[in-house]
Amino acid sequence: MADNAQAQIELHKALAPRYAYRYSFEFSRLFQDDWHGELLSHLPPRSKRVLDLGCGTGFFLAELDQKRPGAVGLDISHAMLRVSEQYVPGARLVTADAEKLPFRDRSFDAIFCKGSLHHTRDHIAFLENCRRALDKDGVLIMSEPCNDNFMIRWARYLLYRFSPHFDLGDQGFTKSGLIELYERAGFEVTHAGRYGVFAYVLAGFPDHLGILRWVPGNVALVRFFLKLDRWICSLRFLRILSFQVVMVGKPKA
Ligand SMILES: C[S@@+](CC[C@H](N)C(=O)[O-])C[C@H]1O[C@@H](n2cnc3c(N)ncnc32)[C@H](O)[C@@H]1O
Repeated sequence: MADNAQAQIELHKALAPRYAYRYSFEFSRLFQDDWHGELLSHLPPRSKRVLDLGCGTGFFLAELDQKRPGAVGLDISHAMLRVSEQYVPGARLVTADAEKLPFRDRSFDAIFCKGSLHHTRDHIAFLENCRRALDKDGVLIMSEPCNDNFMIRWARYLLYRFSPHFDLGDQGFTKSGLIELYERAGFEVTHAGRYGVFAYVLAGFPDHLGILRWVPGNVALVRFFLKLDRWICSLRFLRILSFQVVMVGKPKA
């Protein structure tokens, strides 16, 4: 576990500048804003104390902090948090390991995790920490890579196997696997939905596929794909094409 924590720190030290690049294009920001909107749509209006767990370079945290001033961002990578400081000067940033959260019980009304759970190894410890850090009416809102579809599973495997920007140990989840993890960690699942198909491929990672930023009309295409993806994710036999699962849960009484 300690080895993985160190590996994640090293991996994200190299990735920190790439994230700023990733979010620097209009078409990729449009996509990320929509993704953030999807996560924020699950934030109960009464939630005031919010945490972004694995906040990275802080692009989501910046939006969260606008909605809930005083938002807290936590990440294991100090290099990622140093970028966050530029984007979210008002937020409270904490360098720590999500598997050993440094907060008192019931410190938050909502915890967001956008793509951080799969970087850890003890998923139950991560989720149990979240449960303890949440108030009894709190919510855990998460978006994680979904490996339900065998094509996506293989594409991810190849990417993780051959790109230095991924760790082979960081694998995606199945939707049912995530539901089971939530339940084992003491959460009641209130939402398990799908997100991201074509817009995710076109606009999610221009730092990995630089050519995408030259695609003519990429902003208009993302707008169109965002609508198409929502439709696909609403259809029983097609939603398996999605790259992400959005999970929402609350601590069991
Ligand atoms: C895929 S990035 C996502 C960053 C950010 N949420 C975003 O969407 O841009 C995953 C983040 O999780 C962080 N991370 C990995 N393992 C962690 C751990 N054990 N505790 C806290 N953060 C961790 C990484 O440093 C990285 O910033």
